[in-house]
Amino acid sequence: MGKYVLGVDLGTSAVKVSAVDHAGQIVAQESFDYDLIQKQPGYNEQNPEDWVSGTTVAIVRLILNDHLAAEDIEGLSFSGQMHGLVLLDENNKVLRPSILWNDTRSTPQREEIEAKMGDRFVDITRNQPLEGFTLTKLLWVKENEPEIWSKAKTFVLPKDYVRYRMTGNLAMDYSDATGTVLLDVAKGVWSQEVCEAFDIPLSLCPPLIQSIDFAGTVTPAYAEFSGLTTATKIYGGAADNAAGAVGAGILHPNMVLSSIGTSGVVLKYEDNADVNYHGVVQFEDHAIPNKYYSMGVTLAAGYSLSWFKKTFAPAEDFTDVVASAGKSTVGANGLLYTPYIVGERAPYADADIRGSFTGIDGTHQRYDFVRAVLEGIVYSFKDLFDIYEENGGDFDTVVSIGGGAKSPLWLQIQADIFNRKVVSLKNEQGPGMGAAMIAATGLGWFDSLQDCAETFVHFGKAYEPNPENVAKYAKMHAIYSQVYQQTKAISAQLLDYRRTELTSL
Ligand code: XUL
Repeated sequence: MGKYVLGVDLGTSAVKVSAVDHAGQIVAQESFDYDLIQKQPGYNEQNPEDWVSGTTVAIVRLILNDHLAAEDIEGLSFSGQMHGLVLLDENNKVLRPSILWNDTRSTPQREEIEAKMGDRFVDITRNQPLEGFTLTKLLWVKENEPEIWSKAKTFVLPKDYVRYRMTGNLAMDYSDATGTVLLDVAKGVWSQEVCEAFDIPLSLCPPLIQSIDFAGTVTPAYAEFSGLTTATKIYGGAADNAAGAVGAGILHPNMVLSSIGTSGVVLKYEDNADVNYHGVVQFEDHAIPNKYYSMGVTLAAGYSLSWFKKTFAPAEDFTDVVASAGKSTVGANGLLYTPYIVGERAPYADADIRGSFTGIDGTHQRYDFVRAVLEGIVYSFKDLFDIYEENGGDFDTVVSIGGGAKSPLWLQIQADIFNRKVVSLKNEQGPGMGAAMIAATGLGWFDSLQDCAETFVHFGKAYEPNPENVAKYAKMHAIYSQVYQQTKAISAQLLDYRRTELTSL
């Protein structure tokens, strides 16, 4: 029997645990779902205990159902949903349900941070103090639940809590620590200035480790609970976007990730922390020690397409609807779509902007609309590429994952709009594979994550930009880039109309 590592992908709706061998093959995989607690609109919480029991059930199933021998599991690491606040008391007991990354209650705290620190905050943390990030959640508890706050001794993020329950050791890795917006990113230490400004004791912040650092072995109690042996070594792990980047091979300065899920992510490897995007895109520590990544989110990427299909082609096959865009032309016969249908995060952090089709002509067919949607999502990514270029970013390879990688047409559209080579992965596995790679590297199976990727990550066919299409798309993107400013005031008025006139909202 070979030896394995486990990659724990601790997501928002489920945990998925993958057992991976020395060759990077997934030999078994188990998952377990858990619920969101939504007490009020905008509130999203989870019980940390559900993460621990879900992860444990998945591990027990790997051992009992998939017959993985516990002594063959040499190492384990994590990919974790980011930013979720887990507050612990002096005995490391959880004080309240975790407030998650998609919880938006902390707007007053965001405004408070902006008013008090302004650009200085962004210079230190390299990020805006958004509702999604941990600091605003900490301040919300401090202001709204003083009883709980008075008992808080430390805080961690979701996967850190599961790691703590496995090893008995408290720690947070740098890739997740940047997402708290309490880290001085250039110095790599908790920011005393930010903590002091908001009266947060520095002692609340946990010890920092690297993603590939050894974080402890399985405790006897957790061994009994899970069926693992106490010899299994646990490694720090990474934020899900960092682990996803590792699993997609974004481990060199020439590489950018283009991920089209429900929301879309453009993620760029950053060799150092010299560049300052002033919070327009997020800036985070990578899973590779002393390396970074920047990232921007298009909120309605795949969601734009699923909304379109559900609304205008409910009875048809999804793949056929996407493929119908091939009947249209480059530039969708002059039809433009902006994907702001649930507001936007980057490059425009604007919850009130809404989407549009512009240039609708009596000759347009439904397939032109489909094409416009596919292109509009990629134009929105291109806006972020332009920010990278303006800041001297030099990259030649785009790795496409998610929906955008499933259609040859969409892959070519990406190559033509980005004017870069676009590749997909031969065996796309998501952040759980990145977590397994972190454990494999931590164990010393490989010298570095880059080395590990040589064995674990395989690229598929490359799509090269077609110069004729590149020129046409450059013209269309220049028009696209004007739509945000031109529709901002109209969108705000329409939203206001909906809020005041439509009682259902
Ligand atoms: C990133 C973010 C999400 C979560 C999802 O800033 O909020 O991608 O990490 O788990």
